[in-house]
Amino acid sequence: MENYLLEFANLLLRWLHVIAAISWIGESIYFVMLDNSLHAPKDEASKKRGVFGEMFAVHGGGFYHNQKFLTNPPFELNEDLHWSFWKSYTTWLSGFALFSLLYLANASIYLVNPSSSWEWAAKMSGPEAGVVAVAFLLGGWLVYDQLCRRISPNMDRDGVLSIAVAVMVIVVAYLTCHIFQGRAAFLLTGAVMATSMSANVFFWIIPGQRRMVEDIKAGRTPNPLDGKRGKQRSVHNTYFTLPVVLLMLSNHYSFTYSNENAWIIMSLLIVSGALIRQYFVLRHQGKNLIALPALGTAVLAVVAFIAAPKPADTTPVAKADSTVTAPAAATAAASGDSKDVTFNKVDGILTTRCTACHAAKPTQPGFASAPAGIHLDNPAEVKSHAARIKQVVASKYMPLANMTKMTDDERAVIAQWSGN
Ligand code: HEC
Repeated sequence: MENYLLEFANLLLRWLHVIAAISWIGESIYFVMLDNSLHAPKDEASKKRGVFGEMFAVHGGGFYHNQKFLTNPPFELNEDLHWSFWKSYTTWLSGFALFSLLYLANASIYLVNPSSSWEWAAKMSGPEAGVVAVAFLLGGWLVYDQLCRRISPNMDRDGVLSIAVAVMVIVVAYLTCHIFQGRAAFLLTGAVMATSMSANVFFWIIPGQRRMVEDIKAGRTPNPLDGKRGKQRSVHNTYFTLPVVLLMLSNHYSFTYSNENAWIIMSLLIVSGALIRQYFVLRHQGKNLIALPALGTAVLAVVAFIAAPKPADTTPVAKADSTVTAPAAATAAASGDSKDVTFNKVDGILTTRCTACHAAKPTQPGFASAPAGIHLDNPAEVKSHAARIKQVVASKYMPLANMTKMTDDERAVIAQWSGN
């Protein structure tokens, strides 16, 4: 019952998180579009009022006329000034709650990677892994913020800064993929970026805007650096959005993160997201640089190539066949035809190694229902998921963290199974 309630809470939180993120990112994309679509006003009255740029739009059965003023609006800044921050904070808070409920609460199942090539990481306890994960979120923000402050404090070296930020993100991808389970690594790298996005809003964009509003109300000239810094941080946020969403989604596709080169795949996904975003940013300014999405697509094609299941995934079988001592080969030989693994044999392995979790009523503590909706105690379902089963077993993504201690020989049998 308790597990069930937790899962229900999980569903509600995820709903909130996705809705908040859609609203935040939607608004952010809208304002980037608006900023980049502004044209200098043509009429004298607007020019006199100091309009920096304007955009006319038709939407929802009506017409809109947006005008942007820099730091000197010729009107009272009254109480109905629309601010954008709750969408961002809600996204972060619900995201962190979800991360806590799923990953931190079950850190030994979902975070710790017992097969990490870094021995200290493989040996971490659940709580230790949880602390390291949270340290990534905090540390990521601190490092990113220092890069911005030191490299381009006056917003005049933003190009160099972008490169430094990109390198930082790739380093995070590399570290998380080596320390944590692949799925957690992708989520955490996305969360490091998303945390910096929300912290940009909280620590820089909103406080800067508040100072500007106070100055204007008090009749002082606002510090133009406040406006420029807000812009610098929102530009970073814009380039983070597509990669962050892609990383959060890739979490549901084990071919991305269960690969031995997962950190390269993740880095390429991030690069392609930023390239595609850049296309839209320029497009709003009237430039149609089709080379950008083409390059982004080419990068995705490289990902598809690296992430593709390797024919080599089935080679252990050939080896097992030639070794008399390997139990897999021995049993396969005993069953008559080594090329034809019987369904019963596969089913037996799945029952010992998988159904503790993948059953309608899992016996593995912490699971209320079959993960990913996959029941491996039902022969028809096993057959229908054959391709996926073979893939996750070959890549060693399943059994999760190899908690049920599946052997390489058993993996060889699954690799050889025809799927019937
Ligand atoms: C300790 C619990 C546990 C065990 C044991 C386990 N799984 Fe899973 N499995 C999970 C969880 C949790 C997920 C969902 C993770 C996700 O969404 O990527 C999952 C997801 C899957 C998926 C869907 C992944 C995808 O992205 O397509 C398949 C297929 C799968 N498991 C097969 C297996 C097989 C086959 C075994 C046994 C060899 C196995 N699992 C053992 C917990 C387990």
